[in-house]
Amino acid sequence: MIEWDDKFSVGISRIDDEHKQFIDIINKAIAIKEHHDNPEELKEVLHSITMYAITHFATEENYMIEFNYPEYQYHKEEHHDFSRKVIEYCERVADGDTQFANKILEYLKQWLVNHIQVTDRKYIDCFKRNGLK
Ligand code: FEO
Repeated sequence: MIEWDDKFSVGISRIDDEHKQFIDIINKAIAIKEHHDNPEELKEVLHSITMYAITHFATEENYMIEFNYPEYQYHKEEHHDFSRKVIEYCERVADGDTQFANKILEYLKQWLVNHIQVTDRKYIDCFKRNGLK
């Protein structure tokens, strides 16, 4: 499980709220794997992660475009790479490869925590300069 910690905060309320929801969905996936290990539920929650990632990434990328953020391309590629992997994982689980789920969940956890603390932090100054709080 991932627990929200102030060290994850980017100091922009809309984005912090979205990150909290993102963490909640990943925790839900971890709980399903740990407690029921039901492939249908797992498939569903992985689909929710994909959908939520699209929504959240669009929030950030739209701000980046609006504020002319210099690292937009690089950041967008990281988002794209994550989305591609989650879709690929969804397909493997859909094909019945549930043993693979532990690896998936570990990847999702590590990616999100690392991305929030490293890549997302880089836009803080730019977003704040442009009035976000
Ligand atoms: Fe919060 Fe760049 O994802």
